Amino acid sequence: MVIRIIGTGSSLPQQVVTNDGLAEAVDTSDEWIFSRTGIRERHLVKEETTASMSVEAAERALINAGIGAEEVDLIIVATITGDYLTPSTACEVQAGLGARRAVAFDINAACSGFLFALHTAYAYLETGVYRTALVLGAETLSKIMDWEDRSTCVLFGDGAGAAVVRAFNGETRIRDDGSQWLEEKGKGGLLAFEQGSDGARGKVLSCKGRENNNLLVRNPFTPSYVKMDGQEVYKFAVSTVPASIQRVLEKAGMEAGDMKYFVLHQANIRIIQSVAKRLKADEGKFPVSLDHCGNVSAASVPILLDEINKKGMLERGDKIVMAGFGGGLTWASAVLEW
Ligand code: ACO
Repeated sequence: MVIRIIGTGSSLPQQVVTNDGLAEAVDTSDEWIFSRTGIRERHLVKEETTASMSVEAAERALINAGIGAEEVDLIIVATITGDYLTPSTACEVQAGLGARRAVAFDINAACSGFLFALHTAYAYLETGVYRTALVLGAETLSKIMDWEDRSTCVLFGDGAGAAVVRAFNGETRIRDDGSQWLEEKGKGGLLAFEQGSDGARGKVLSCKGRENNNLLVRNPFTPSYVKMDGQEVYKFAVSTVPASIQRVLEKAGMEAGDMKYFVLHQANIRIIQSVAKRLKADEGKFPVSLDHCGNVSAASVPILLDEINKKGMLERGDKIVMAGFGGGLTWASAVLEW
């Protein structure tokens, strides 16, 4: 069984807010934000919603894969910012696409969410339960930011990314453009996963849900926002991510030097540079989207994957690492042969 990503797509809100634009409303500057994070601008929603961006990203991924919505068996959306508590964003995507056969649900693993969702889809596909999955990371983080808190609100952006994942069992598939997916049994695709969680450290990056509120205890609804101990998150990221990548490379029987790209969660350029240094890998192998997207949590890995796919930077047989890390705390890595 070979399990491949056969299509990618993404969707960003129309409105772009630069650091200078942000500085008109928040006590900050382009110099402070860019020098500490690498972020220049981010997309923020106006009319868009988590579901609308997800549907658009999913439609684009299906077109890129050359398959129809009726072929999708499973939809998993990783998000912490769905439009509703229920229905899930995945159910909204199912409805938006008309993917009537699909089973749909969300998962919450914050910035590691896309990798957790991909691994979950892999498990379903690998055991033969389903054949084709749509895996998304989608966030409207701007709605859970405290716009009075300059230490967090400057870091994040909104957007969605999607990947079509399919299990092949030695068959040949003809694509719309006439080219063929030639499959060999047991070669390529998703090769190894590594995941972890550390709930004991969860409060360093949190956003509270609703308080108990019933006949016995009164807590009228008040919105809550993201709170972060930036330096603790930084320390967590620069120690955990290289170790996770080393473990997943070992599982795949490969080395950092075998990888063409490291597609990392886009939190901060300093984290990416530190991971590159610890892995003794060339920084040029770490594509970046945070300069124009900011940190889009679960959406950042699939958006970046779509960007490098659309630029033609991926060729069949290229090996890449994808890695996510963040709230929970959680982390996850995967090795993929394109
Ligand atoms: N503009 C201007 N000044 C600011 C801003 C801002 N947006 N935010 C904070 N400051 C000020 C602070 O008030 C403080 O001023 P003071 O010294 O007068 O008190 C000063 O800048 C330094 O603040 P620190 O919080 O110590 O800044 P630090 O150098 O640690 O950088 C940062 C903060 C960039 C968040 C850093 O801690 C970091 O990279 N952390 C990693 C966490 C991260 O990337 N999180 C993203 C989300 S989590 C995830 O995706 C996994």
